[in-house]
Amino acid sequence: MMKIDTIVDLRLAVAGWRAAGERVALVPTMGNLHAGHLQLVERARTHADRVVVSVFVNPMQFTDASGGGGDFERYPRSFDEDNTRLSAMASAPDAVFSPTVAEVYPGGFESETRVSVPDISDILCGEYRPGHFVGVATVVAKLFNMVQPDVALFGEKDFQQLQVIRRFVTDLCFPVEIIGVPTVREKNGLAMSSRNQYLSASERENAAVLYQMLLTAQQKIVSGEEAFSDIQTQAIARLSDAGFRPEYFEIRQSENLQPASATDSQIVILVAAWLGKARLIDNLTVNLSIN
Ligand code: PAF
Repeated sequence: MMKIDTIVDLRLAVAGWRAAGERVALVPTMGNLHAGHLQLVERARTHADRVVVSVFVNPMQFTDASGGGGDFERYPRSFDEDNTRLSAMASAPDAVFSPTVAEVYPGGFESETRVSVPDISDILCGEYRPGHFVGVATVVAKLFNMVQPDVALFGEKDFQQLQVIRRFVTDLCFPVEIIGVPTVREKNGLAMSSRNQYLSASERENAAVLYQMLLTAQQKIVSGEEAFSDIQTQAIARLSDAGFRPEYFEIRQSENLQPASATDSQIVILVAAWLGKARLIDNLTVNLSIN
């Protein structure tokens, strides 16, 4: 596993693979890797000959206050452990790309060109974290131009992020196939996330309620309940009772994340809620066309 931290060295490695006719996959991460990230790497292996994992804590996506206020500084960093975990994998990546902030944003991220995906970036998490998805779209577009992968893999846990990325890839004609990989969960159903580290042991147990609320809502929709706003209101109330500070619990159309109704077939239920110091997000899809 090569450790690369400059764009020049990265391009050299990728050019060699390309010259040999090999397919390249990218798994973008912010490090602090857990089983969900390792699953992305494993899946990447099934889509390409070469796998690059990027590890970059992107300051541009932490510009909002509700990211935790100073979330960029306190975001957990564990580069050595990450490298050890990756190199120990049976399907270890070929390269880990860990650039500095200056390498990615030589002109300073505040004043550089940015990628802004309208509408879908401003709702749900975008409403609570203004500017967040501009930061995500910009850094992912930059990483695509640095690595020039054939395929890139992202976790479905960040469902809105995945749709934002799909949208700019289509709109800006990036020749990259985007693959969403199902969420990896703890035994109690809690979606794996680097932010789970901010939870105490008892909060971690309690956090499973988030997934239970999603399952309950999913079951109600599948069994024909049509009053989606009631389902949402009940879930918010249950989460508050369980000690969460919910931001939203919404039933939306999967593709554009606009409000869904019982006539829609591709639905996603999305939730964001604070528990203690952790802002947790999760989602579940409902495919009514197969019921
Ligand atoms: O999901 C993440 O870890 C980040 O938002 C991403 C996609 C690596 C961009 O910084």
